[in-house]
Amino acid sequence: MNFNTSSSKQTWSADAYSKHGRFVADLAGAVYEWLAPQAGERILDLGCGDGALTQKLVDAGCDVLGVDMSDDLLAAARERGLKVVNCDGHSLDFPAEFDAVFSNAALHWMSRPEQVIDGVWRALKPGGRFVAEFGGHGNVAAIVTAMRAVSAHRGGEESLAGPWFFPSPEVYADMLESAGFEVRRIGLYPRPTPLKSGMKEWLKLFRKPFFEQFGNETDTVLEEVEQLLRPSLCDARGNWTADYVRIRVEAVKP
Ligand code: BEZ
Repeated sequence: MNFNTSSSKQTWSADAYSKHGRFVADLAGAVYEWLAPQAGERILDLGCGDGALTQKLVDAGCDVLGVDMSDDLLAAARERGLKVVNCDGHSLDFPAEFDAVFSNAALHWMSRPEQVIDGVWRALKPGGRFVAEFGGHGNVAAIVTAMRAVSAHRGGEESLAGPWFFPSPEVYADMLESAGFEVRRIGLYPRPTPLKSGMKEWLKLFRKPFFEQFGNETDTVLEEVEQLLRPSLCDARGNWTADYVRIRVEAVKP
């Protein structure tokens, strides 16, 4: 994951991520299948986080390098014995050495997608593939709208509510093709995502800078956002579901 955005810096605790964000890797079955990793392949895991999926690729017999910008998450990945380095996804500088670049739930954190795509292109061998899944157009729309509404009411900085890059397939395919990729398949997949730890833990884990702007009112603002979301994202038994929409893509460097 890359956490520097134009207006804020998101930081991560490996412990909190492991407790409340484990579903991110657990729900990555489809993008893993699109990658179809083969033993012996050299793979770059872009935004490897704590290495849960990197580990799966290593277990499949691949030679994997993980890159991320969170030292805390990288330390957790190193504890698994994985090869990982701290690297900004906007400035990948690997010379045509990977059979595939893989990325799950990371690219929406990177605010300059053309730069990321150029780095992925450079990193791939000719014939190499780029397989990724991340937030697509409409992702967490209700959640972002609730944060914006509360922020507008309180005179907060609304842009902190939604700093992410959530493209439509048409927009992202154009970007890839402009860089020279052949897009093999791309689509938008609504994936309502159960939040076992509840909405507040999700908000605290993924949008800390938004809430921190309110200082000692942080908990009240969290409560207000949760209350706005309750009718649409919480069922009668108190189970929360996030309105995730994924964009998934496979593209090839000819
Ligand atoms: C996502 O995986 O779609 C996502 C996670 C955290 C914040 C925004 C989006």
